[in-house]
Amino acid sequence: MSDAGERTFGPLGRALVIIPTYNEAENIGPIIARVREAVPEAHVLVADDNSPDGTGKIADEIAIGDDHVKVLHRKGKEGLGAAYLAGFRWGIERDYGVLVEMDADGSHQPEELPRLLTALKGADLVIGSRWVPGGRVVNWPKSRQFISRGGSTYSRLMLGVRLRDLTAGYRAFRRETLLGLGLDQVDSQGYCFQVDLAWRAVKAGFHVVEVPVTFIERELGDSKMSREIVVEALWRVTSWGVNARVSRLLGAASPPDGPRRG
Ligand code: GDD
Ligand code: MN
Repeated sequence: MSDAGERTFGPLGRALVIIPTYNEAENIGPIIARVREAVPEAHVLVADDNSPDGTGKIADEIAIGDDHVKVLHRKGKEGLGAAYLAGFRWGIERDYGVLVEMDADGSHQPEELPRLLTALKGADLVIGSRWVPGGRVVNWPKSRQFISRGGSTYSRLMLGVRLRDLTAGYRAFRRETLLGLGLDQVDSQGYCFQVDLAWRAVKAGFHVVEVPVTFIERELGDSKMSREIVVEALWRVTSWGVNARVSRLLGAASPPDGPRRG
């Protein structure tokens, strides 16, 4: 099914932009304003993990004055993966046709979202990619570029997929795609959640398209990237890759239609 040539894709339906937040007090107002301006028909869901800096409260105040903005309050910091899963569930229950992932810190430019949504008309999942021609990163230290590119390359080789930016956090899913990923079985917590979902989408035969984006490093607040997040990604990706290889080997050792001929 990854050959989109024979596929027809249904209409997109209403879009929900999910923005996970943990201590993004300076960023949440500006990012919501930019999303509302860039895609006025879309709704915004802030998924806040009870940020000590009051991000959730600021979002509540914005939501009072704008019926396109909603806030999902979670009890504490449980990681990006859990926040997105809760946001997806919220949106699926309310019949949104498109669910978008976007960081709060301005790294993902809302002004590029119309381009992602246009691409989604002919795809099941669109990934805003830094590492395809035309994509780039602004203001990232070499060390961070190395981790991201290295992580994507390692995942690509380990999992055997052709996607260039597997950890990208700027994405647009069709509702039907999310329903086909087995989200109940996802237990990735940190940024490897992104690799997890891309890999599930590829395995399920969905048509995944990467469109180039310009990722701009945050100016305000701090990244939540940590050693634990890198370690989780490494061991999970490695175990997925090893499992896939072992399954292929076992599958090849016992062909369904009788003994193999020399
Ligand atoms: N609710 C919630 N809970 N939000 C979180 C958590 C959490 O535990 N951890 C991070 N976030 C939110 C941040 O507040 C921000 O809006 C977004 O998730 C991304 O976090 P950053 O800390 O800014 O990520 P980054 O810039 O270091 O990493 C970027 O690159 C990663 C690797 O490519 C992001 O685009 C990631 O999505 C991406 O995987
Ligand atoms: Mn960031």
